[in-house]
Amino acid sequence: NAMFSWQRTSYHFQPIKNWMNDPDGPLFHMGWYHLFYQYNPDSAVWGNITWGHAVSRDLIHWLYLPFAMVPDQWYDINGVWTGSATLLPDGQIVMLYTGDTNQSVQVQNLAYPANLSDPLLLDWVKYPGNPVLVPPPHIKPKDFRDPTTGWIGPDGKWRITIGSKINTTGVSLVYHTTDFISYKLLDTLLHAVLGTGMWECVDFYPVAINGSIGLDTSDDGPGIKHVLKASLDNTKLDYYALGTYNPVIDKWTPDNPEEDVGIGLRLDYGRYYASKSFYDQYKKRRILWGWINETDTESDDLEKGWASVQTIPRTVLFDNKTGTNIRQWPVQEIESLRQTSTHFENVLIEPGSVVPLDIGTATQLDIFAEFETELLESGGEEEGYSCSGGAVNRSTMGPFGLLVIADDSLSELTPVFFRPTNTTNGTLDTYFCADETRSTLAPEVLKHIYGSKVPVLEGEKYSMRVLVDHSIVESFAQGGRTVITSRIYPTEAIYGSAKLFLFNNATGVNVKATLQIWQMNSAFIRPFPL
Ligand code: FRU
Repeated sequence: NAMFSWQRTSYHFQPIKNWMNDPDGPLFHMGWYHLFYQYNPDSAVWGNITWGHAVSRDLIHWLYLPFAMVPDQWYDINGVWTGSATLLPDGQIVMLYTGDTNQSVQVQNLAYPANLSDPLLLDWVKYPGNPVLVPPPHIKPKDFRDPTTGWIGPDGKWRITIGSKINTTGVSLVYHTTDFISYKLLDTLLHAVLGTGMWECVDFYPVAINGSIGLDTSDDGPGIKHVLKASLDNTKLDYYALGTYNPVIDKWTPDNPEEDVGIGLRLDYGRYYASKSFYDQYKKRRILWGWINETDTESDDLEKGWASVQTIPRTVLFDNKTGTNIRQWPVQEIESLRQTSTHFENVLIEPGSVVPLDIGTATQLDIFAEFETELLESGGEEEGYSCSGGAVNRSTMGPFGLLVIADDSLSELTPVFFRPTNTTNGTLDTYFCADETRSTLAPEVLKHIYGSKVPVLEGEKYSMRVLVDHSIVESFAQGGRTVITSRIYPTEAIYGSAKLFLFNNATGVNVKATLQIWQMNSAFIRPFPL
């Protein structure tokens, strides 16, 4: 449908048509990155869930391959749901996924590539003895899904964890296995958090405390912390926490119980769910995928004929400067799409002003921006500001930042901004926010004001990286400490009418901005001619 062509992205992964949700079983094999994804072959709404499959040499350009798995067995006839890949030391690839059975029971199934010497891993075999796991007695049949990648414990046995809930407590069950066929459920849980409800798509992996390299899922020992992530079914939000894993008793303990899984940090404060990471053994990094779910109505999705995209894959590292969060950053390969760039040095943005950035069309951009502020009046006490008032809510020190996907008359615009604010104890807090309230004139599209606090350390400038791709805006503050993804559907700020501006809506600071802005090429994302 040509009518909606401007709303499609140009360098984010999305199928040609129909519905997509979670990323599944990402892995690297024989020179190719593989992405599988929850896919409805028949419609732009959820259903008939099948594993779509695409491959890439560089995580940017993709070839769609034939479906890896379709719902064709009693144990997955209601859907081939989310799962994860484990690469065994002998080179085998194990895929564990949830099947929704003919009785709508959630079970775990095993699959493997028919031919490991095929770099494209075109054919997948479902283990004839499936299912390999059924819900244990104390777990409800619809609360048992999304097995993780396996890791090896000190006893040489493999572990996997599976999210569930017990009453309203979100939990993560642990199983031991040696062959991925028979499993032993532990009496103890990896972790549980009261009141967080069903945990979907649990992700569990080590990060190096020195903050320099990614780790294999089985790596453990001194100098390592573990990230535990759960996708909360109740709110459809991805939460994570940092903590310590004890591999002898298979228990994970949060560093800060007040920021436990589901009540503390989020991977992305915008439109984002059901993320999954994998270890890229080729480039020794951990890469995180995430599903950007829709903000348009189901009937609009059906009219368009497609729904959802995946984020640009992000590298994940422990933030050794703050010690309290991870950092996410678009994979370095995205920079291969950079074309002409424009530099702006120390652009002055006075209180209450908007400054156009003359870069031409602004629908496909990679923006790096740094901001410095100069106080014009001694700041009054201003506790209590956050993102919630949006970009129109003025205070002494904020908001200031970018207006992306904005037309000249500013009838549509999406501010991505910082808001520093005083706290009661005399320190400064900074919020990083995205305000979608004016992102589109279309009334039916969901519009949120997103954001959260971002640590800004002594001597650091405010900095943001923003990837703009027509209807997707992925924003990373302070090197990726806080991330916000927006799905916006402009109607005026499209094609050549989409522009970029700086703004300063603070009342008491001058802001100076220094920016490097690249026009971004489109990625080749197309069917593989088989
Ligand atoms: C998360 C989820 C998973 C499930 C899959 C089904 O979005 O609900 O828990 O396996 O999607 O498509």
